[in-house]
Amino acid sequence: MKILVVGSGGREHAICSAFLKSSKVKEIFCANGNAGIAAIAETVDIRPDNIPALADLAEAKGINLTFVGGETSLALGIVDEFESRGLKIIGASKAAARLEASKAFAKDFMARHQIPTAAYVVANSIEEAKAALEHGRFVDENSPVVVKADGLAAGKGVVVAATRAEAIDALGELESIAGKEASSRIVLEECLIGREVSLILFCDGENFAMMPPTRDHKRIGEGDTGPNTGGMGTITDAALLSADQTAEIVETVIKPTLNGCREEGFPFRGILFLGLMMTPNGPKVLEYNVRFGDPETQSILVRLETDIVDICEAMLSGTLDQTDIKWRSGNSACVILAAENYPGRPRTGDGINGLESAGQHADVSIFHAGTTKDDEGRFVTAGGRVLGVTAVGDDLDSALKNAYEAAAEISWPGMQYRRDIGK
Ligand code: AMP
Ligand code: GLY
Repeated sequence: MKILVVGSGGREHAICSAFLKSSKVKEIFCANGNAGIAAIAETVDIRPDNIPALADLAEAKGINLTFVGGETSLALGIVDEFESRGLKIIGASKAAARLEASKAFAKDFMARHQIPTAAYVVANSIEEAKAALEHGRFVDENSPVVVKADGLAAGKGVVVAATRAEAIDALGELESIAGKEASSRIVLEECLIGREVSLILFCDGENFAMMPPTRDHKRIGEGDTGPNTGGMGTITDAALLSADQTAEIVETVIKPTLNGCREEGFPFRGILFLGLMMTPNGPKVLEYNVRFGDPETQSILVRLETDIVDICEAMLSGTLDQTDIKWRSGNSACVILAAENYPGRPRTGDGINGLESAGQHADVSIFHAGTTKDDEGRFVTAGGRVLGVTAVGDDLDSALKNAYEAAAEISWPGMQYRRDIGK
C-alpha cells in the first residue's frame, strides 16, 4: 500500500520509519519532509496547512492511508476534508482538535466532564485578564499563576509566573511571544506542583490503547533552566507511572475524556496526548494535544513491535480493543541536538559531521528534524531542532548510554544538547 505522512520534523521521520518496517507498505510519501525523511520516502513540497493540495495529492498518487503529524493540519480540518473525499486518514477531526487548538475550550470541556485539572479563569482580553488578577478573584498576590494564550502557539504560549506581578508582566508580552490571534483569549491557571508525565493513546472513537509513558525535557538548559523549547529530549519508562496511578488516570481522565468527546458529538479517533501533572491530590490534566508529541514519538515508536498499519486499520474500524500492541521491553531515550541560539532564531546552513558513523550504532536511530542537503549533497542544519538521536536499551541507563555515545560522534559549529536527559 501507499502511505502519506503529513509534516516535516523528527516526529514525522519516526512515523515514516515505523511505516517503512511494515511488510504491507510499498511506498511512502511525505509532505513536506526533510533531508532525512527523503532517504526513506518521496518528499513532496506541500505545506501542512494546504489542505486541498494535500487531498489532491492523496487522490493523484492513489494513497491508501494518510497519517497526520502535527496540529496545524488537524485544526484546519484535514481529516474532515479527506473523509469527505473517501480518503482514509488517521488524525483527530476538526471538532476534536479544539481540545488542543483552544485552551479555553479544553478547560471548559474538562469542567463539563469533571476531569481533574488546575483551577482556571478565561479572559477575553489582556485587560480582562489583568483585572481578574488584580481583583484577586482568582489567586492571591504571592501565589504562582500560569498564563496561557488560548490558541496554537507552537509551545510558546505558556508562562509560569512566580507572582501576580510577574503574571501581569507576562500578559504584556504574551502577544509578542504567542501572536495576536493566539492571545485574543487568555487562560489563567492555578500553578500545579508535581511530576510531569506524558501519556499518549491510540484511539478509535470508542476504545483506546496506551503507549509507554514518557517524560519530556522542555527547557533549553540542563537542570531545567532557561527558556522553553519544543522539547530537548524524552525517555520512555514504565516506572514513570505505578499500576495504581495508571488505573486512576484511566478512570478519572481517559474514560471521562473519551466519553465526553462522544457525548458532545466528536468521538475521538486518532492520537490523544495527555500532558499530566502527578500531584499529591492525584493526576491532573495540564493539556491535551490531539497528535503525537515531538520528540516523545521518536522514543515511543522505536519500541513499537506491532505493524503500525495494523494499528491504523484498527483505529479506522473501531477494533483497537481486539488488537494486541507489542512494545520492546526496557526503555528508550531521545536526545535532541539543536542549532546554536535555539530556541531563539537558530543559526543554519552548517555541515553536519559524524552522521554516518553515529548511525551505525546498534540500537540507535537518528531522526532528522531540521536538515537539508547542500549543493554537494552534504547534510546541513536547517532549523532549531536538527536531529533526535534515539536509542533503545534493556534499562534506562543503557538506553541513555547508547543515545549519548552516538550523539558524541556528531558535531557542527554551535551544536547544543542537554547532557541530563532522563536524569
Ligand atoms: P502546556 O503547553 O499547557 O502543556 O504548558 C507547557 C508547560 O507549562 C507544561 O509542560 C508545564 O511544565 C507547564 N504548565 C502548564 N500548565 C501548568 C500548571 N497549571 N501548573 C504548573 N505548570 C504548568
Ligand atoms: N513535546 C511536546 C509536544 O509535542 O507538545
